[in-house]
Amino acid sequence: MADILAELEVRRKDARLGGGEKRIAVQHAKGKLTARERIELLLDEGSFEEYGMFVAHRATEFGMAANRPPGDGVVTGWGTVNGRLIYVYSQDFTVLGGSVSETHGQKICKIMDMAVQNGAPVVGINDSGGARIQEGVDALAAYAEIFRRNIEASGVVPQISLIMGPCAGGAVYSPAMTDFIFMVKDSSYMFVTGPDVVKTVTNEVVTAEELGGASTHTRKSSVADGAFENDVEALGEIRRLIDFLPLSNREKPPVRPFFDSPDRIEASLDTLIPDNPNQPYDMKELIEKLADEGDFFEIQEDFAKNIITGFLRLEGQTVGVVANQPMVLAGVLDIDSARKAARFVRFCDCFEIPILTLVDVPGFLPGTTQEYGGVIKHGAKLLFAYGEATVPLVTVITRKAYGGAYDVMASKHLGSDVNYAWPSAEIAVMGAKGAVEILHRADLGDAEKIAAHTAEYEARFANPFVAAERGFIDEVIPPHSTRRRVCRAFASLRKKSRPVPWKKHNNIPL
Ligand code: HXC
Repeated sequence: MADILAELEVRRKDARLGGGEKRIAVQHAKGKLTARERIELLLDEGSFEEYGMFVAHRATEFGMAANRPPGDGVVTGWGTVNGRLIYVYSQDFTVLGGSVSETHGQKICKIMDMAVQNGAPVVGINDSGGARIQEGVDALAAYAEIFRRNIEASGVVPQISLIMGPCAGGAVYSPAMTDFIFMVKDSSYMFVTGPDVVKTVTNEVVTAEELGGASTHTRKSSVADGAFENDVEALGEIRRLIDFLPLSNREKPPVRPFFDSPDRIEASLDTLIPDNPNQPYDMKELIEKLADEGDFFEIQEDFAKNIITGFLRLEGQTVGVVANQPMVLAGVLDIDSARKAARFVRFCDCFEIPILTLVDVPGFLPGTTQEYGGVIKHGAKLLFAYGEATVPLVTVITRKAYGGAYDVMASKHLGSDVNYAWPSAEIAVMGAKGAVEILHRADLGDAEKIAAHTAEYEARFANPFVAAERGFIDEVIPPHSTRRRVCRAFASLRKKSRPVPWKKHNNIPL
């Protein structure tokens, strides 16, 4: 027995070495951790249970029969994050470039199946040269098996992708179908076709970083939800995100201990809104002042900054926040912000995370760029996402809520449960200037008359009371009491049940 145990240890040691010391040194020299080091940082200490350490590929062509490294380029298994079950796979670039073979794919599929059956999130750490060239169509088949599981798991368990190296070609479509993608600055990239192919086909000269680095995908394409400085920071932040999420659609989000009174009064909020309605203020200040201990995990921080999305906790319970940001484009809704917020609202609704909507929106951005780009369809995504959401919805209008954007931003009419407005709210079809120019076109040359009309319009419509008279606003609240009101609103909605008519699935304007 001692011999057998010794042999097991030798085999394990060999498998744990992946592609060997030399390749590990190369990995480290690039500022990247190894597949196993990443898992160690992601999971609670000592909690990793590995499966498939000795799996080897079955390929024989191109001399592959003589090169069968144990584990086949991906480390898979499960462990815990702050005591909660998580399945993980981590591609090992030191083994055949982390390339995906038939067996590599089977290892990933196995833990995805287990995650769905046992109701726990999947974290996929991507660092791979793509389909294993020596395996041809078997490698492509492996990818498609993973894709199918990404789709089946969508809305069942949270799926998080970390891109920590190359992720190119069709390989990008697995992360693309997960709930969140995070990248590491300067060491990860994602593209469907690389710089060489781009040069051949379009004659564009572009580096891998410019084409598909973290900056590109967090700022321009919005493919990625966030980027971190290095592997260590990325893994720590993913642990933080996981703490906000339920393990599956069968469970409620976790409730954490909190040390911040739900009754906390924030006197500073009474002066957050500037006297001049055209002057911006930072909506993030409100978010942070509402959150338990000011803790806010932002999603897509660098994209469509005119809307803010992310997670906070109220009385220890996770709440998704969607908020117009008056600091950027006056908080207007446009194609990018509507798409960003719609996807976030849908994620929250999939996983029973209540949504808090903070509204200060002057309307939709006008212009040919927006219309040609399909703002009608993209705006409809957000409208649709709110309208189909059955999770508790609480809305606070801090200032402007004009036109269609008023309806879209979780209005009462779309199904929001509790709608508050600050006394500074202006709820109308449009702002006073635009309204007067249309209603009193004949007086446009007479400054005195226009001023009188504007004052009359402002007095009548630039307030929350017309909407409150109709019950579209449940209560006009002093800003300083917002945390208390919002906490109590969500507390009253914990058992909300909103039946929906049977359908196979809806047809959201994709
Ligand atoms: C087999 C691969 C591989 C692959 C890398 N390797 N990619 N082996 N299949 N796809 C191996 C290399 O041969 C090398 O082995 C080791 O991994 C490290 O690779 P290097 O090239 O030395 O590393 P680096 O210089 O860092 O370059 C990384 C790279 C490059 C940019 C990813 O390896 C590369 O271009 N690989 C090919 C990428 C590719 O075209 N993949 C197919 C994409 S199409 P040795 O033994 O020399 O160390 C695709 C379709 C998916 O993936 C479709 C899904 C539907």
